[in-house]
Amino acid sequence: MKDYLATVVKNERIAENIYEITFQTEEDVPVRAGQFGDISVGGTHLLRRPIAICKAEGNLVTYCYQIKGEGTQKLKTVRAGEQLNVLMPLGNGFFVEEKEQKVALVGGGVGVFPLISVLRAYGKEKEISAYIGYRNKDAVCGVDEFEKATKFVGVTDDGSWGEKMNSVQAFAKDLQAGNRPDVVLACGPTPMLRALKRLVEEEKLACYVSLEERMGCGIGACLVCVCNLTNGARARVCKDGPVFNVNDVAL
Ligand SMILES: Cc1cc2nc3c(=O)[nH]c(=O)nc-3n(C[C@H](O)[C@H](O)[C@H](O)COP(=O)(O)OP(=O)(O)OC[C@H]3O[C@@H](n4cnc5c(N)ncnc54)[C@H](O)[C@@H]3O)c2cc1C
Ligand code: FES
Repeated sequence: MKDYLATVVKNERIAENIYEITFQTEEDVPVRAGQFGDISVGGTHLLRRPIAICKAEGNLVTYCYQIKGEGTQKLKTVRAGEQLNVLMPLGNGFFVEEKEQKVALVGGGVGVFPLISVLRAYGKEKEISAYIGYRNKDAVCGVDEFEKATKFVGVTDDGSWGEKMNSVQAFAKDLQAGNRPDVVLACGPTPMLRALKRLVEEEKLACYVSLEERMGCGIGACLVCVCNLTNGARARVCKDGPVFNVNDVAL
């Protein structure tokens, strides 16, 4: 992990309220799928914003972010050529074991972005099925990446693109049809992860989830990001996570 002074190569809108920003650094950034960066948005924003790394190719690192509040509004105004401090790569990331050949990706909302990094890392060696849910057709993005999966099922909450259902329902439907993975990797809003946890418990499937928590330091020092574990202990999402075995976290 390093605090890079990174040059913005591009920062453009890719869907409603969603932007893609690519940084260039002086040296290659060693990134594992599912890791994130803490981006300093400049100005008076003292806290950085944690965003999942979507693509990393040598010294080019790309993030996709949804405009939410003040920080991401500010990030949207950054132009190519400007420089920002980016602390990366952070967190543990997703790890697919050798014996896990069939992988299911289940993502919703901004949780779809770290799953792109999984597909890019493991797509050539594993059989990957991606179940990806968007709010509506205007929020659809990353399709060119997910189409590289062995199987891609894209759905929307309102049925304006793909079937009307969420990504957990899409996964459950395929499971019933006999497409059973060795491991499930997921990221998305907590209610989605809760529904997924119930399903994988019933089906006795291995599952890892990437959590989102408000963060301060991003490196394990401030404890702003702690989450509850099922054994009663607490863990730091930034350093012990953001990826956890679904059985270990209280959702
Ligand atoms: C590990 C991780 C990966 C993430 N990856 C992505 C991603 O790939 N794309 C994306 O669009 N968003 C992602 N998020 C959520 C993103 O960090 C927040 O949407 C963003 O910080 C909002 O900042 P803001 O100033 O625009 O909003 P505000 O609501 O004004 O933020 C105020 C404060 O709350 C924090 N905050 C607000 N919402 C969240 C949230 N959901 N999670 C964590 N902190 C929050 C902000 O960091 C800031 O400190 C990720 C969060 C985490 C923890
Ligand atoms: S954000 Fe400071 S410990 Fe996780």
